[in-house]
Amino acid sequence: MTDTMTGAGAPASAPARSTNPLRLKSIHHVEFYVGNAKQAAYYYREAFGFSGFAYLGLETGRRDVTSYALEQGKARLVLTTPMTADGPIVDHIRRHGDGVRDIAFHVDDAAAAFEEAVRRGATPVAEPHEVSDAHGAIRRASIATYGDTIHSFISEAGYRGPFLPGYVEKRVAGRDAGLLRIDHMVGNVELGRMEHWAAFYADVLGFSRFISFDDKDISTEYSALMSIVMSDDSYAIKFPLNEPAAGRRKSQIDEYLEFYGGPGVQHLALLSTDIISTVRTLKANGVEFLSVPSSYYEMLASRVGAIDEALDTIRELGILVDRDEEGYLLQLFTKPVEDRPTVFFEIIQRKGSRGFGKGNFKALFEAIEREQALRGNL
Ligand code: FE2
Repeated sequence: MTDTMTGAGAPASAPARSTNPLRLKSIHHVEFYVGNAKQAAYYYREAFGFSGFAYLGLETGRRDVTSYALEQGKARLVLTTPMTADGPIVDHIRRHGDGVRDIAFHVDDAAAAFEEAVRRGATPVAEPHEVSDAHGAIRRASIATYGDTIHSFISEAGYRGPFLPGYVEKRVAGRDAGLLRIDHMVGNVELGRMEHWAAFYADVLGFSRFISFDDKDISTEYSALMSIVMSDDSYAIKFPLNEPAAGRRKSQIDEYLEFYGGPGVQHLALLSTDIISTVRTLKANGVEFLSVPSSYYEMLASRVGAIDEALDTIRELGILVDRDEEGYLLQLFTKPVEDRPTVFFEIIQRKGSRGFGKGNFKALFEAIEREQALRGNL
């Protein structure tokens, strides 16, 4: 075996350099199954600043589902609701409430991505098939990931429609908050399953382990969790995975798993290049954020040093700051966006740091636990 094959000087356990075996280009969209897509679309427009751009439903000839496609920057959400009394979408909503069904990838070739994923051990959900309308055709296929969540592969060479075949253009402006794209999406999995799903993202998608946190990094008086961040080669697609760790009380991950009815997407982190303006807009729009105690800000300057933003503004808006070797980041977390304490959002601005706010975990989780206690779940 040559040095070229092993990587000179690399420890034997180092992950092989990822080669993007499925030729993923980006996150194409994230699809939520929801109980009432019309009202959810209003919420994501008026509160989060997404704008509607495409629609399918009864008026377009679809009698089984209605879907709204929304975008802000490069982030695209699809909100789908069933029009029938039963079926897989109804079952998903009954089990999970509103939640993420599909993290769909834009790929070069959906059939090739699917076949390679299955060859690498993925469970098939939808075989490659063509979907077309008057604007042309796309190809899509899907594989399973944690819980009832799936990854679709979409290749759309030459398709000229507003979104995907079947959708018509329907533009409804939202209250734009300056969000640019999805920074990362976090999955909560069951106790003991985090390594399994990290291996899935490594073996099937060719992702590498970017960073991990154990229960010594992420623990409070009451609860603990463990996390592994899996990333593609370019760090454009990052999927942290959490599992609960033993604590004195029920962890936030346990609470999620109970109310979601199993593993699923815990949060979507959306990137801003001006978090102060973004958070001001979102707060004015009615988005509810977790707040940390004022003591957090008394220690902030000594913990993170000089930052570009005025500390009193950071404090006023309740923004969290963390610094690592590469720079710093600013972040803030919403409360869950539905009645079940499940899916929430993160707003993040990166100033050099590619991390996830490790220095904020303790203050943040104590804030989450105060909310959990109010819900009777701690
Ligand atoms: Fe996050």
